[in-house]
Amino acid sequence: MAVASESVPRHIAIVMDGNGRWASKRFLPRIAGHKQGVEVLKRTVRSCVQRGVAVLTVFAFSSENWKRPADEVSGLMDIMVAALSRELNALKKDGVHLQFIGEREALSQRVQQCLVEAERETSSNRTLTLNVCFNYGGRWDIVQAAQALAAAGESITEASLSRRLSTFATGDPDLVVRTGGEMRMSNFLLWQAAYSELYFSDVLWPDFDETALDHAIQAYVSRERRFGMTSAQLPGSSNPRV
Ligand code: IPE
Ligand code: IPE
Ligand code: MG
Repeated sequence: MAVASESVPRHIAIVMDGNGRWASKRFLPRIAGHKQGVEVLKRTVRSCVQRGVAVLTVFAFSSENWKRPADEVSGLMDIMVAALSRELNALKKDGVHLQFIGEREALSQRVQQCLVEAERETSSNRTLTLNVCFNYGGRWDIVQAAQALAAAGESITEASLSRRLSTFATGDPDLVVRTGGEMRMSNFLLWQAAYSELYFSDVLWPDFDETALDHAIQAYVSRERRFGMTSAQLPGSSNPRV
């Protein structure tokens, strides 16, 4: 069941986990799970556009994923390059603005060029911003923000540090979804998720469909976001004495 657009989260972030297990269950190589994961991401982007979500931030490759076997790492790099060249026109047509978040220097020149080109080609799109966290870690993000402040001689406050985070332009996520059954952040948006609603799904990412997305959105809609206040203090509260 779809959810009324006024209650849909503005910014959804997803830890797309479970590709390897999805493949193993089918006696396929792990990379087959990652390929299917790209298909699911494509569908999820479209579903988010249809539901009026403004920003989708996805975790595609973590700072720690370099520890995986070399062939899986290079397979993931190849999948990123292939997916971008294959999907760029469709993303442009759908009004998707692509942004890559993470440490670029460790990526090969070939991958870096693809990211820059995809960002340039989609920079004027406004329907949905898709932040792809690639070689991203929440600790890296906080450290690079602190280093930038130090280099500029700026004082360190919550506001100044927030402004230097790689996701500043798109704001903090309202809802963080993790698929694949694990209940941990794995170094995802550590600072930015301070007041996000968290939703954990047992569905493996390659099986995450529109129904699963709507379950996550419905769970979000049913939460009361208090930001430290009491229920009675919230706008629209009908019971000021609670
Ligand atoms: C998430 O799926 C994708 C990446 C981390 C790149 P996994 O590859 O972690 O899948 P599982 O957790 O092993 O099933
Ligand atoms: C988190 O998944 C990273 C991505 C989805 C890209 P992992 O599978 O790497 O997380 P851990 O290792 O189980 O914590
Ligand atoms: Mg995993």
